[in-house]
Amino acid sequence: MGRIIYIIWALAVLAFVPRLTESAKILAIFPFTGPSQYICVQLYLKSLAARGHEITSISAFPQKTPLKNFRDITLKDEYKDHDEFIITAIEEMSATKLTQLRTLFDYSIMGSLPVLKNEEFQQLLRSDEHFDLIIIEVFCQDSLYALGEHFKAPMIGVSTFGADVIVDQLVDNVSPLAYVPAPSGTNLDVMNFWQRLDNLYTNTMELLYTHLVIIPEQQRQYEKYFPNATLRLTDVRRDFSLLLLNQHYSFSWPRPLVPNAIEVAGMHVENKPKKLPTDMEAFINASARGAIYFSLGSNVKSALLPKQKLQEIMNAFASLPVNVLWKFEKTDLAGKPKNVFINKWFPQSDVLAHPKVKLFVTHGGMHSLIEAVHHAKPIVGTPVFYDQYLNVEKAVYKGFGVGINFRNFTSTELRDAILEVLNNPKYTERAREISASFHDRPMNPLDTAIYWTEYVLRHKGAPQLRVASRHLNFLQRHSVDTMAVLFGIPLLLAIFLFYVVFQVLAALFSSNDNAHKKRKRD
Ligand SMILES: *[C@@H]1O[C@H](CO)[C@@H](O)[C@H](O)[C@H]1NC(C)=O
Ligand SMILES: *[C@@H]1O[C@H](CO)[C@@H](O)[C@H](O)[C@H]1NC(C)=O
Ligand SMILES: *[C@@H]1O[C@H](CO)[C@@H](O)[C@H](O)[C@H]1NC(C)=O
Repeated sequence: MGRIIYIIWALAVLAFVPRLTESAKILAIFPFTGPSQYICVQLYLKSLAARGHEITSISAFPQKTPLKNFRDITLKDEYKDHDEFIITAIEEMSATKLTQLRTLFDYSIMGSLPVLKNEEFQQLLRSDEHFDLIIIEVFCQDSLYALGEHFKAPMIGVSTFGADVIVDQLVDNVSPLAYVPAPSGTNLDVMNFWQRLDNLYTNTMELLYTHLVIIPEQQRQYEKYFPNATLRLTDVRRDFSLLLLNQHYSFSWPRPLVPNAIEVAGMHVENKPKKLPTDMEAFINASARGAIYFSLGSNVKSALLPKQKLQEIMNAFASLPVNVLWKFEKTDLAGKPKNVFINKWFPQSDVLAHPKVKLFVTHGGMHSLIEAVHHAKPIVGTPVFYDQYLNVEKAVYKGFGVGINFRNFTSTELRDAILEVLNNPKYTERAREISASFHDRPMNPLDTAIYWTEYVLRHKGAPQLRVASRHLNFLQRHSVDTMAVLFGIPLLLAIFLFYVVFQVLAALFSSNDNAHKKRKRD
């Protein structure tokens, strides 16, 4: 009898244990122009598909071989000007804050319009297809944030460069300006007065530019392409269930995060490195003191660099006592030194995983920095634009890298920086320490991202994770109204009292005076 009661009790308990997530239909939109943003989520999306979820992925980078549970909507044609755009961006990034912001604006339009105009996407919008979840890249493509409401599905935002003041707004996260620097600047978390002033200025400019220029343009796109939407754009911008941030405190700094802003840096890295192609590994092996790997990432093409710059780089490499692997997008490079191996593509993470690869010469893109940290390799950083300056700055500050100026470095500078990191073991030691703290977490980053994604599915948008700030307007959110009462009323009272006392005293004195004069006359 007791046993039967126990079994009934156990079954009753089991009925309430949250069930495994059922397979869901997921729409993933990664409109950004560069392949590096897609690298960030490729493994994550594929893993979701492998777990039985049906993925519809909108990006410029379709799967080369068909994948189970994976459907691509390809944005190929819209991106033919990409290289040209990147070159302009590189030139302008050295200019003033305002020019940089304008470049950002062009980027933001490039992100949303090609999706909105895409015929297949338009069909999807008009179809009665149902989605359980929208996963969307967040970088000023606010009109696309309407998709959550359009498909009546919760939204997860992925920020490939981490949090900033604008991304914060999507889940009402906070970045205190006194110790959380803007990703587009060059300040670290410990700032002196002038750096804090600079951080305030950078963040204010970004906020103003976003609200005065980018959002009005996105508002026009929103009205044009989502004529049936009932929410205001300001509301869909706060309609996020979760934010996945490509950052981690181990290689940057600790910072406050709301419960639905999750750090997942490293989710794009395969846990087990693959074996390198034989020719690459043979070239690495042939170098007795280890080899180095040089790449400017997927956006900046080495092959498009000016001749002079290429010559400086080749001269530096030729003078090194080690072999160099160079990601170079053409098949021939006139005057290529014997110790250099060029290829238009390298399995970067697997190359960095190789024990004989000692150093990574990088542009400091977020993914490259994360892979260096993952594989405990020191860097020589030569940042080209946007968050790359700060990424390299972090590596220098944390002690696992040296930075040089991309615009004007000479072959001697490049060689000296490389030799400094190769010959001085302190850089590799720091890289190992930071890598150890990067890996020391309860769940690896990919599993973390999947766990929280399915958490949002299980809990129907997981409203329990969201802070209440989205219900407040600007004055309320910043306590301006309550502060006005708490400090304003006593202040008014004090002024009033002061006035009364002054009046009374004045009256007293003048009557005293009168009495005095009167007495004198008598
Ligand atoms: C808006 O609603 C109309 C009428 O219901 C429908 O025909 C149209 O396809 C909808 N447009 C979009 C973009 O959903
Ligand atoms: C490179 O060296 C490693 C270790 O000595 C060896 O296991 C590997 O087979 C070598 N690879 C090639 C392509 O020579
Ligand atoms: C390169 O430019 C930076 C700042 O613009 C300057 O500090 C540095 O000295 C320059 N280096 C060379 C080699 O000219």
